[in-house]
Amino acid sequence: MSTIQWDISKITFYVVACWILAAFGGLMFGYDIGISGGVTAMDDFLMKFFPAVHERKLHAKENNYCKYDDQSLQLFTSSLYLAALVASFGASKSCSLLGRQPTIVMAGSFFLLGAALSCAASQKWMLILGRILFGVGVGFGNESVPLFLTEIAPVQHRGAVNILFQLFVTIGILIANMVNYGTSKLHPHGWRVSLGLAGVPALFLFLGSLVITESPTSLVERGKENKGREALKKIRGVSDVEAEFEQIKMACEQAKLVRHPFKKLMKRSSMPPLIIGIMMQVFQQFTGINAIMFYAPVLFQTVGFKNDASLLSAVITGTVNVLSTFVSIYAVDRAGRRKLLLQACVQMFICQMTIGVILMAKLKTTGSLDKGLAAVVVVLVCLFVMCFAWSWGPLGWLIPSETFPLETRTAGFAFAVSANMLFTFIIAQAFLSMLCNMRAGIFFFFSAWILAMGLFVVFLLPETKGVPIDVMVERVWKQHPVWKKFMDTSDIDCQKIKKLPCKMSKKSI
Ligand code: BGC
Repeated sequence: MSTIQWDISKITFYVVACWILAAFGGLMFGYDIGISGGVTAMDDFLMKFFPAVHERKLHAKENNYCKYDDQSLQLFTSSLYLAALVASFGASKSCSLLGRQPTIVMAGSFFLLGAALSCAASQKWMLILGRILFGVGVGFGNESVPLFLTEIAPVQHRGAVNILFQLFVTIGILIANMVNYGTSKLHPHGWRVSLGLAGVPALFLFLGSLVITESPTSLVERGKENKGREALKKIRGVSDVEAEFEQIKMACEQAKLVRHPFKKLMKRSSMPPLIIGIMMQVFQQFTGINAIMFYAPVLFQTVGFKNDASLLSAVITGTVNVLSTFVSIYAVDRAGRRKLLLQACVQMFICQMTIGVILMAKLKTTGSLDKGLAAVVVVLVCLFVMCFAWSWGPLGWLIPSETFPLETRTAGFAFAVSANMLFTFIIAQAFLSMLCNMRAGIFFFFSAWILAMGLFVVFLLPETKGVPIDVMVERVWKQHPVWKKFMDTSDIDCQKIKKLPCKMSKKSI
């Protein structure tokens, strides 16, 4: 890397401010993930919108596992992800036609509208529409923010900067858990405060997005070369940015040869990063993490905690989630992606299996776990969240963002984002019914997935640690025993541009 000039760029106050302001998009996503579980456990909320569920909860002794099973209650949580799924494709278009920064402005605006409508909701449709607006914000934010962060980060800090997004997601979840803990005591409108407070980070994101710079890549991509050069100078804090600027220009020229990125994505040679990008997100969701993130208070009530204690336990898991993400920031470029993912598979498998065995043996349809065992379940949940936070959580976003070549990056990433949303939706919509029908067996279901994802990492996931993003095809995909069969040398677009070296030696990087 020593030959690359932009290694000497400074980390300026301006660029750090841009990272943080943009990362508020992650905070919004996290807040939305964390808030609904607590709100759906609040009696005032249930009595107003879901009286039948409230009635069932009062007779909880009748069935521990089924007291919250209600499709429309689950729709309240999951509608957000369906909206985000659809919106992420619109966001991909907006990212390439209008730019990353206007797409982040739009995300902030949708969040603000969603917060206002949810807070003021007097009927169920207002509540759901509020969630949908939040969802469109998530779709726009999750597509544009990680791309923006990656593009404005100096190459040597790209991994850590990308994980900043996930760090803010976890902070958002924690803040939501703490807010719920406080507002659950505010009768009868605590839930309004919980949903309305989403407006605060949304306002930060909105105002912040008005002052951040557009990414140089996006400016050059849209023909604004001079502006792109100026933006690069500003974020790098040095005046000589020619070497990096030339690289951006070349990457953009190469990308321009591909007129239909979505079509190009369907080619055989695009399959390896596409399959990896989608599967990372599918597996991330089938760890079962969101069964815990959305429904932690509900889950803890199921094993016998009172309302208050269960919200507090959710605050504890949220704290573990934030702190463990720092491990990932530290380890991802040292230990590598594969080691983190595999270690986590072992730890998550043990935790899920043990929780399943405890619940199966001790939690019958009625009654509750004794206090000691309930505490063991909380500890196991924390151990599970801990290793998710340094592995599948951040890497689910990092790996899809670093494995696509530039010409298919925004389109490919949109598939990864929408796969995340689709499977988050499925888990959110199905979890309470699955808990009701499968009872403790649901934990064995997730364990089986964890086993499958471990095998996937062993056989199919290449290590991308330390590999510069623009030579992934040569250094990763063409070297992998399985994926190299998909790579077609005649398909390399760089051959069409004389300026671009098709084979990059390690020395030339
Ligand atoms: C996932 C979310 C999850 C969160 C937990 C994110 O990476 O995409 O679905 O709730 O991590 O921290």
